[in-house]
Amino acid sequence: MDTRGGMRDEDFRFFRSLIHKETGIWLGDQKRSMLASRLSRRLRELRLDDLHAYRVWLETADAGGSELVHAINRVTTNKTDFFREPEHFIVLKDWVAGRGSATRLWCAASSTGEEPYSLAMTLAEVFGMQAPWSILATDIDTEVLAAAAAGIYGEDRLRTLPAGMKPRYFLRGRGKYSGQACVRPEVRRHVEFRRVNLVGEQWPVGERFDAVFCRNVLIYFDRETQQRVVERLLGRLVPDGLLFLGHSESLHWMAHQVETVAHTVYRKRVGQWGGGQ
Ligand SMILES: C[S@@+](CC[C@H](N)C(=O)[O-])C[C@H]1O[C@@H](n2cnc3c(N)ncnc32)[C@H](O)[C@@H]1O
Repeated sequence: MDTRGGMRDEDFRFFRSLIHKETGIWLGDQKRSMLASRLSRRLRELRLDDLHAYRVWLETADAGGSELVHAINRVTTNKTDFFREPEHFIVLKDWVAGRGSATRLWCAASSTGEEPYSLAMTLAEVFGMQAPWSILATDIDTEVLAAAAAGIYGEDRLRTLPAGMKPRYFLRGRGKYSGQACVRPEVRRHVEFRRVNLVGEQWPVGERFDAVFCRNVLIYFDRETQQRVVERLLGRLVPDGLLFLGHSESLHWMAHQVETVAHTVYRKRVGQWGGGQ
């Protein structure tokens, strides 16, 4: 029996295919030890002996799928920052300022909230806090969504904010919250958090969006899944809407469907022919 990387071959194949089916995330052979170590943390909470026992649990005792949600939470990679890949926020700011209207954005892999709050601060700079702009922030991971909705961050997390934004958009913690900062409620009320699986059949996200940020998540998907997700995202945009992807997620291979507006910022190509008469 081969137990390389802390897991039997057959168990690795089971978890890999379960994660792929449920999340779109493809774990290559080199991710075996990482997968074992992330899932092992859950074993301790469930007092199970090994990953084989966890597999049996998932196969036989998880009819409602609630344990699957925990397993997915363990496997996702949630690295993010305020104003990560900052050029995108300049593009967004100029674009929304040029259009001049209230804006509805979707942040489709929002992790612990730094990205949707960066979008909120960007819109607040253009439209002010009273205008009716809104941001839907979604992720598959229920733990990061809960942290994001709380909007509390260690002061060290705020080091990537542009100058002057900290006092405008955050409250400093005192007492037991000393060393932390909380997103101001006036900002938070524009941001709604919801669990949405990008490879799920339904996307309960409502009306079309002016722009979608779906950054640094497609890299975890195989090419077929990337294409399906991108096509569905384009379908959720208003006709001149923008799709922002992560800096390493170029769509040069979909150039027939999208035109490039800025680095990894895309707009759906409009056909040269109109509809029928
Ligand atoms: C590396 S983080 C990127 C966060 C942020 N977009 C950024 O660029 O800083 C990737 C996020 O994608 C989420 N994710 C992974 N698979 C997903 C799926 N199938 N549906 C929705 N979110 C997913 C993870 O939970 C994680 O929070």
